[in-house]
Amino acid sequence: MPILTLYPGAPQRRELAGLYLDDVPADVGHPFIYANFLASLDGRIALRDGNGHKGVPATIANDLDWRLYTELLVQADAVLTTGPQARAIATGAFKDMMITAHERYPDLRDYRRARGLSAHPVCVVVTSRPHDLAGGALKSAHPGTIVAITPTKARDEVQAARAAGLQVIVVDEALTVTGKDLWRVLDERGLRRVYMTGGPRLFHSLLVDRVVDRLYLTTACRLLGGEEDMETLVRGSVLPLPVEARLRRLALDAVGPPQQLFASYELARIDR
Ligand SMILES: NC(=O)c1ccc[n+]([C@@H]2O[C@H](COP(=O)([O-])OP(=O)(O)OC[C@H]3O[C@@H](n4cnc5c(N)ncnc54)[C@H](OP(=O)(O)O)[C@@H]3O)[C@@H](O)[C@H]2O)c1
Repeated sequence: MPILTLYPGAPQRRELAGLYLDDVPADVGHPFIYANFLASLDGRIALRDGNGHKGVPATIANDLDWRLYTELLVQADAVLTTGPQARAIATGAFKDMMITAHERYPDLRDYRRARGLSAHPVCVVVTSRPHDLAGGALKSAHPGTIVAITPTKARDEVQAARAAGLQVIVVDEALTVTGKDLWRVLDERGLRRVYMTGGPRLFHSLLVDRVVDRLYLTTACRLLGGEEDMETLVRGSVLPLPVEARLRRLALDAVGPPQQLFASYELARIDR
């Protein structure tokens, strides 16, 4: 699919495939967290459908964005995800993304092996309910290492998750896992390229502590509306400091429909 690259430099035509391959730095000496979202022009990343299920709006989900999602996935040492997404994989509602990637994109099958990466990124599940992850089913659905990070101190809950075969890391007591704690765990484990695929609450925790390095954002040029049953990129209290985002790359699918903008931004973070 031909697209136009708009920034930096003069506009140029190119193929969409490969746009994000090799775009994530291999090792900057600490975890490099990159987030990815698909949003409508009015900023919706999720809406409730007719069956009461909240998810990526079917009116904007599309193959071009999926391809780019996958190109970011194959570069990851670790994928950050949330309790609800892990439960959806465990119950079979979603298929493991790496398995889907191999099925859909034969040209990406050898990408990891050729670069000496493990077959599957480590799956890091952020949750306050580790016992409720259906660990056994999750392990069957996701062939790689699974680590649950949780603030819960409830011994029974942690033991139940461990008994189901999950590695569980308990961080400092708080209602939720903080960005700082998460970053520290990733750093201690030597995980460098960390793909943040969680939703707006996890993104908020990471932004509060300014530990996200980069945002990839596909904007599908459609207006969807929706009120309380929708999600935008970030959900949570007003950030103590606005996070500055600097555009680094921008491309356009001028054909559509819908037309789409593929942007990536460097986010201001704290010095560590
Ligand atoms: N369009 C897009 O690009 C895109 C991307 C991502 C998600 N989405 C959509 O957005 C909606 C929400 O996604 P989501 O539920 O995965 O993400 P979320 O809003 O980030 O997280 C929701 C749940 O994950 C766990 N969690 C998140 N951050 C945590 C923290 N700091 N500490 C402890 N637990 C934490 C908690 O669940 P538990 O404690 O119960 O485990 C929490 O209720 C879904 O409909 C999803 O499909 C869209």
